[in-house]
Amino acid sequence: MRHATEAEALARFGKRKPVFNYRWEHVTAVVTLAMKLAELTGADGEVVEAAAWLHDVRKEAREKHPQEGAKFARKFLPKTDFPPEKIEAVAQAIEAHMGLWLDAPLDNLEAQVLWDADKLAKIGLTAVFHFTGNVMARGKPTTTDDLIRYGRDAEWQAKTVASMHTEPARRAAAARFAAYNQLWGSLESELRGDDLDA
Ligand SMILES: [Fe+2]
Ligand SMILES: [Fe+2]
Repeated sequence: MRHATEAEALARFGKRKPVFNYRWEHVTAVVTLAMKLAELTGADGEVVEAAAWLHDVRKEAREKHPQEGAKFARKFLPKTDFPPEKIEAVAQAIEAHMGLWLDAPLDNLEAQVLWDADKLAKIGLTAVFHFTGNVMARGKPTTTDDLIRYGRDAEWQAKTVASMHTEPARRAAAARFAAYNQLWGSLESELRGDDLDA
């Protein structure tokens, strides 16, 4: 997975080891969240962990990356000591992780846990720092105002919050979204010096 993130970094930022490897940061966050969610929901921890590590391994395939990632898992996992009877569940969870929101919920617990963990890692304060790191790694000129404008333009996050499947993820997503919105307000108020009047 590390190699896949470095190949993606080379394509995105022109170097294998950029100052911030967004994909690696994202995937490691997803693994942590997915394993915790598996524990809290009773999902199969081995399936969830493998799916979390591999879910974006074929990210370069863009909107086909869930299918391509699933194919990779079906080929790669049999070469490891991963339990063979669980490989198809890993592939199916990876296949189902597309999209920032869903019209209809997923019906398999391990797929739900991967989806929730993947999206939790894209909202809240994590999104602020990952996005900022990404912009810096690209080396494009940016300003605090640019970041605020981009950050404020995130209506999709409300839909993501509403699409969460598991109870702990739903709760965390709502809190993360509130913290996210509050951050932009506080930042603007600091820049305006609102706190000097108090
Ligand atoms: Fe993905
Ligand atoms: Fe992801």
